[in-house]
Amino acid sequence: MYGPILAGEKISLQPPEASEAERYVVWLRDPEVTRFVSSFTDVTIESEREFLKNIAEDATKVFWSVYTKDGKHIGSTDLHGLALNHKRTSWGVMIGDKSEWNKGYGADVLRTLADYAFGKLKLNRFELEVFDRNAAGIACYRKCGFKTEGVKRKCFVKNGQVHDSILMALTDDDYEELKKNNDDKKSRTC
Ligand SMILES: CC(C)(COP(=O)(O)OP(=O)(O)OC[C@H]1O[C@@H](n2cnc3c(N)ncnc32)[C@H](O)[C@@H]1OP(=O)(O)O)[C@@H](O)C(=O)NCCC(=O)NCCS
Repeated sequence: MYGPILAGEKISLQPPEASEAERYVVWLRDPEVTRFVSSFTDVTIESEREFLKNIAEDATKVFWSVYTKDGKHIGSTDLHGLALNHKRTSWGVMIGDKSEWNKGYGADVLRTLADYAFGKLKLNRFELEVFDRNAAGIACYRKCGFKTEGVKRKCFVKNGQVHDSILMALTDDDYEELKKNNDDKKSRTC
């Protein structure tokens, strides 16, 4: 399904539009963007249009396009494996526009979706798996409070290279503690 419009500090999350398909294809065909992403191969404009249309009907996935506050489309994000009965979800993100890396957009997407997952959906757990060599991803998730829970050895093969997968997660308790620490810091600087 498409997610509702959500506003972060630096980004907004919006339902995708068919007109974005071409941009997604450029990003998904860029080996630098997808080198640590397990799922994408041989995307075409047609397959991407089809994907963006079909995902509206998929109840296990919530998909958003990521925009900067000044209206530039820079990527996508999704909750997948959403299990409301177990109050947990997995999370994925791609900042496809490489010129926008390392500006805090990935972290803001994460924080915005954590607010949504714990605040609105009342989940207990928010998790992801990341290739062990994805240093930017791991740094991004750590600075948002994600904790490493384990390593799945030799989990992915991408472009002939074998990668371990790092399992990282944030629980509702971690999230409450992070919020409390942030509030304490704010009140000390006032
Ligand atoms: C991973 C990704 C989402 C991060 O998004 P982003 O907007 O660049 O993230 P942020 O700017 O919030 O944080 C990135 C952090 O990584 C750090 N970083 C970047 N390259 C690094 C490296 N080689 N080693 C260590 N840290 C690195 C940055 O300095 C930054 O930390 P800081 O804010 O403390 O300085 C983005 O690079 C991306 O989409 N990549 C392509 C697809 C992908 O890998 N998706 C994730 C699959 S799990």
